[in-house]
Order: sequence, then structure tokens, then C-alpha cells
Amino acid sequence: MDQNILKQQVAAAAIEYITPHLREDMIIGVGTGSTANCFIDQLAALRHRFDGTVASSEASAERLKSHGIPVYDLNSVKEMPFYIDGADETNAQLELIKGGGAALTREKIVASVAREFICIADESKLVQRLGKYPLPVEVIPMARSAVARTLVQLGGTPAWREGVTTDNGNIILDVYDLNIVDAPQLESAINDIPGVVTNGLFAIQPASVLLLAGVNGVQKLTR
Ligand code: 5RP
Repeated sequence: MDQNILKQQVAAAAIEYITPHLREDMIIGVGTGSTANCFIDQLAALRHRFDGTVASSEASAERLKSHGIPVYDLNSVKEMPFYIDGADETNAQLELIKGGGAALTREKIVASVAREFICIADESKLVQRLGKYPLPVEVIPMARSAVARTLVQLGGTPAWREGVTTDNGNIILDVYDLNIVDAPQLESAINDIPGVVTNGLFAIQPASVLLLAGVNGVQKLTR
């Protein structure tokens, strides 16, 4: 089945999931990427039923605003019941690899504030073991080579995503060949490297709910 149709279907399932809970004063966390874009476009029809959003990237903020949906600075938000975002890979434990769109740091921050992280994906993203998709790592530019050398010691093969600057002014290293057996442990180990802002493993705080679209419809997985 066409992947775009699956993305539309899973976005619709997320809309259905949050709709009964919407309140006039509610702030919704919104992710980044093509699946999140489907969600944003469908959220537009409900824009009078909640207060506004916090976006995980400048691109999503622009798309939300183009629909007339208010976007708030996270610093002005105390409570966020839901964060809705896609993923590059997920396992059955709802541990994720994210950051294909280079927005991983803001995604992790916004997800950490939300009570529930609803991950929306098509079934091509479900894997037994994480790591076939190269792990994005956001790095302070001056630390690029030093961090790359340490990632090699951890068994990875880092590649600089040349030409890409994150919304935070940093660079991305995509790490191939990682054997991800213990995702929370690797997430901490990479975050501990000086110069790393964050990495795209969402395992210490995985998704709360995974909505997964496939040929037989959308299934809901929880931990
Ligand atoms: C962006 C992300 C995205 O959620 C991830 O890349 C999935 O994108 P898409 O929905 O386009 O497949 O982490 O940084």
C-alpha cells in the first residue's frame, strides 16, 4: 500500500485518539517530518477546540501557523497532555530512533514535557532490533571530529550529514553499524560524550503509545 496513504491513516488515528480529550486551554506538542505533517494538516480542522501547540522544529511551527494554529514557546507552557510525532525506527518496546529530519533535540525536549508521547508510523518502521537506520547524533560543530572518533570506539561508523545545520545551529553525525542491544544504555553512553547535544535514541523515555498503520488498518501498541 502507498506509504502516503498509511501516513494519512495513522495521522487520522492520532486525531481520533486525542479528540475526546481536547479542552479549550490545552497545549499539544507536535513533531516533525512527513507523518507529523499529515497530523498537522488534519489538526487544522480542530483548531478551535484547543489553545495551541508547541512545535519541535521551525518547519513544523511554520506549517502550524500557516493553518492558523497558535505556536507557543515551550518556556511558557507548564502542562502538555500529548506529544505526537513520527519515528525512523521503532521496536516492540516502543524504543525509537528519531532525527531523520534533524529535529531530534527539540523532539526529545518536547516529548519529555508531555504526559503521553503518541508515536505515529507506518509498519515499515517496525524492526526487531534498532540500528539498521543510522542513528542521528546532534553535535556542537567544534566537537565534530572528536565525537566521531569516540563513536568509532563505540563500534559505530559516523558520517557527517554535510550541508545540514539544525535549528539549534549544530551539525548531525549519522552513525551506521551500531549493534543496539541495550538501547537505554547506548543512549546514555552517547549523550555522555563531550560535544554531543543529544542522540536520536528515545529509549530511556520511549513512546507511550505506538499507532502503527499497515495493510490491515491501524494497530495500537502500548508498553
Ligand atoms: C525528524 C524525525 C521524524 O519523526 C522521523 O524522521 C520520521 O519522519 P517521517 O515521518 O518523514 O518518516 O525524527 O527529526
